[in-house]
Amino acid sequence: IQTAHVRIVEVGPRDGLQNICDQVPTSTKVELIRRLRETGLRTIELTSVVSPRAIPQLADCREVMDHALVKTLLQNETGGLRFPVLVPNVKGLDIAMKCGVKEIAVFISATEGFSKANINCSVEDGIARASDVAGLATKAGVAVRGYVSCIFADPYDGPTPEGAVLHCTRSLLDAGCYEVSLGDTTGIGSPSNVHSLIKYLISNGIPLEKLAGHFHDTYGQAVANVWEAYTCGMRVFDSSVGGLGGCPFAPGAKGNVASEDLVYMFHNAGIHTGVDLPKLVEVGDWISRTLSMTNSSRAGTALSVK
Ligand code: HMG
Ligand code: MG
Repeated sequence: IQTAHVRIVEVGPRDGLQNICDQVPTSTKVELIRRLRETGLRTIELTSVVSPRAIPQLADCREVMDHALVKTLLQNETGGLRFPVLVPNVKGLDIAMKCGVKEIAVFISATEGFSKANINCSVEDGIARASDVAGLATKAGVAVRGYVSCIFADPYDGPTPEGAVLHCTRSLLDAGCYEVSLGDTTGIGSPSNVHSLIKYLISNGIPLEKLAGHFHDTYGQAVANVWEAYTCGMRVFDSSVGGLGGCPFAPGAKGNVASEDLVYMFHNAGIHTGVDLPKLVEVGDWISRTLSMTNSSRAGTALSVK
């Protein structure tokens, strides 16, 4: 009997922390990674190797990657375990590879405004840069995941044409990305937008099994968007414990869909995630208290007061 399952990409240690102003100690970041892995999560994005001026919070990325506990995870990255690290350029790739990273994620925007703000170049230059990085990584045996940001709208430019998302997705797949995560960076999209975009991409030749969903929750649509994408056939979703997350270059955007909410929803539907929900709820409760932040996971909050 085939059981339905989804793959969760936990982005808490990267997307979840990158927008927090107060410096989170390296030891807390490593402990977060350790606790997340204990829940059964098999893909955890560890950090990003980006300009420390752009994202001061992750300036300690080398210390995170070089920590004994993280080193052990990286060394045992087999059998479906993945610990990707976000990189914007060849410099980031080199540093990540020196630290023993076996998977990277490259990122581009479908829109000019966010591309300029986030990575200081045009969409086409972003595609060229990401393609160079992906080519070098692939040659070195490092797996590459891709992100396309602003799939529905850009914080500066307004609505995004579906054709722009298609162009970026195709470019990343052509560059060797094994999967492209579609980012609703501003969290503005609703299920109808998700449905329309997925159908459009499929009808233009993008294989559904190469797509993942990355929904921010600004308008409270993220869980609904995940479910809509699931019913369209998508099986890989990015989420963040406690609903942490956001990007300093997308002002006002809220965190990612909370991992607890997503796991709760899938388990209720009999869909396997491989994640122990009570353990995940404990991690969400712990990290929210440790960072003195309100836990944005509704399921997490409900389950931790029980
Ligand atoms: P730039 O200023 O055009 O480039 O930045 P640069 O090459 O002149 O570099 C500027 C400085 O950064 C230099 O240092 C470089 O050495 C250093 P200085 O000489 O001035 O002291 N630098 C680096 N340091 C460490 N690691 C590196 C690196 N590269 C350069 N890899 C750049 C261009 C792309 C570097 C910069 O804009 C940047 O780092 N941007 C990243 C911004 C970012 O991380 N945003 C958040 C992640 S994306 C996101 O959240 C969306 C996502 O979640 C999906 C979604 O929600 O849509 C993925
Ligand atoms: Mg994001």
